[in-house]
Formats: sequence, structure tokens, C-alpha cells
Amino acid sequence: MVTLEEAKNAFKPKLKPIEWKKDSLLLLDQSLLPFQTVWVKLTDPEGVASSIKNMQVRGAPAIGITASYGMVLSVRGDNLDEAISSMRKAKAVLDSARPTAVNLSWATSRMLEKANLAVEQGEVKDVNELRELMEREANSVFEEELEAELKMGIYGLEKINSGDAVLTQCNAGGLATGTGLGTALAPVKLAHALGMDVSVFAPETRPWLQGSRLTVYELMTDGVKTTLITDTAVGLVMYKGMVQSVMVGADRILSDGHVYNKIGTFKEAVIAHEMGIPFFALAPTSTFDMKNRVEDVKIEERDPNEVRYIRGVPVAPAEVEVYNPVFDVTPPKYVTGIITENGIIYPPFEKNVRKIVER
Ligand code: MRU
Repeated sequence: MVTLEEAKNAFKPKLKPIEWKKDSLLLLDQSLLPFQTVWVKLTDPEGVASSIKNMQVRGAPAIGITASYGMVLSVRGDNLDEAISSMRKAKAVLDSARPTAVNLSWATSRMLEKANLAVEQGEVKDVNELRELMEREANSVFEEELEAELKMGIYGLEKINSGDAVLTQCNAGGLATGTGLGTALAPVKLAHALGMDVSVFAPETRPWLQGSRLTVYELMTDGVKTTLITDTAVGLVMYKGMVQSVMVGADRILSDGHVYNKIGTFKEAVIAHEMGIPFFALAPTSTFDMKNRVEDVKIEERDPNEVRYIRGVPVAPAEVEVYNPVFDVTPPKYVTGIITENGIIYPPFEKNVRKIVER
């Protein structure tokens, strides 16, 4: 098995979409990539929440990191009570920006709990000290994510042979995590960096086109051989044996192994199951929701115009009724394994998820 040091030396991130600048947060606007490179500057938690809502930043881990910095920006007021109250309000605003990715509330809860504890225990004397502590915590969220991805990459590498092609969905690369590496794309990027002959099939991922705009751009930037396909081609690609595994990210994974990810993932999982192709979800443990069941999780539905138009060009009668869920849920029976930074979880998930996540 490749060591963490070897992985760190082999892979050098190129596309890093989140930059913390002490009093502001810079985000590479993913709604415009790859056609325009525009950085958005944010100085308050409300602006951060809007950027998450309108998907200038997207992808579960990247949303979590962004929200952590949003919490840093919310440390305001004349005394510690005011600062904590401001952080509580910011948490509510940030958490409501998007409903499905659990990393968002995981990150804001982590930040608020850390702040409450530091104030209770007299660890910080004033608002400035609290803000510095929060800044260090947000930086840790970011650094821990990259380390987790390198570890997922190492575990995932064991599932890839030279000559393999991997089918993915959406963008679960470094743009979606903020680090430049990614979750689902980590094994293939590491494999490529280590000199293996590997490639990716990227479905375009209607309606927001994370596949064609972001995954393709990101993999081409990293020099990984990539083939763009329509979402409707995944069945044929698997039927013809053109891919040897499916690797996707996740926005939320339940303790019983249900995997929430970009719409279209469920279809890939069912076809992979039928065709005997292994289907892996890759996610850090911060993506696990150990409390809720399927009936409790809200699947985000977005603006119907995302479907009626493609980047401003009409592709349907303007008045057509639209259903636009942007995530789906894959039942555990279709999941071969879940790759985390703590190791690979195999069925039965009901029993094994806890062992790895709560380690
Ligand atoms: O709507 P998005 O673009 O935020 O959805 C992103 C995904 O579905 C990703 O696959 C998921 O967040 C994992 S990112 C490493």
C-alpha cells in the first residue's frame, strides 16, 4: 500500500477554489467555470450563505469548509456574549443555504461548539481571541479534509488496476472539496500521479453540468485522460465493459449505508450492480449522518429554469412543468463499499458503518 508521505509527494494540487485571507474569503466562482475565472470576495456570513445557495461554491466538503470560514466572519460584537449570539445566528443562516449536504451543519456545529467551550472554560478573553481561535479551527477543517482525501485516495487505489477506466458522476474532485484533490477522483488522480495508465468517464450531469464543466476541466488540468459522455450513455458504457469500477462522492451517508449524491448516481449504481461492476462511494467521515433515517432527509429541488434552459438557451417550452431534484439516494444493496479516511466499509453497513465512523 502507498504511504501517506508517498501520496503527498506524488500529487500536487493545481485547482484550489477556496482561499482564506484573514478578513475575507475568496471563492473561485464555480457557476462560471471553465469559461470564466472569477474570484468572489466575501466578508460576512450572509454573503457566504448566498454563495453556497447559488452554487458559486458547491460539493459537500467545500461547502463545509466555506461555512467554517463563514462562521469565522460571524465573530462580531463588543463582547463575547454578542459574538456567540452572532455566531448562532450565522449558523442558522448558513445551515439553511442548502439542505442535503450534511457537511454544512457538521462544520457550523463544530465551530459553534468549539466557541462555546472556549468561552465557558475561559480559554479566550475577548472577541479578538475568539476570532483567532475560530480561524485556527476553520484552517483545521480545511487541512483535515486534504489529509482525509489522501487517505481515501490510498484506499481507493487498491481498487484500481493499470489500464482501468472509472465512471464517476457530477464533480467530486478538488473543486467540490476545496483541496484540489477530491473524494471520488482521489484514487484515479493518485494512480495517474504514480504513473499508472488510468482514465475517467465523466457524465455531463444535467442540469448544472458539473461533469462537463468542472470534472472534465479539473481532470484535464491534472493531466488525467477523460472522456465526456451524456448522462444517458452510462448504461451502454457499462454494458460494453468500458469501465471497471464506479466511483462517486456523497453529500450524506446514513448509518445503514444509504448514499445521497448527485441525481443520476442511483441509476449508475443499479446498472453497475446488474453488470457486476463494483460501485464505491467515497466520502470523509464528516459526510456521515448517524442520526437520521431516509424519511428524515430532504432532497434539494432547484429552480425549474435550470431544466428549461441550458446556460440561458431554452431547451423546452418555457411554461412546461418541471421536477428538478438535484440529488438521489442509492440504497445499500447497490453499494459495494464506502471508502473513507478510516478505511473501506463493506456490507452489512448497519453494523460496519459505526465501527469505522465512530472509531
Ligand atoms: O449540487 P452539488 O454540485 O453541490 O453536488 C455535488 C455532489 O453531488 C458531489 O458528488 C458531492 O457533494 C461530493 S463532493 C466531493
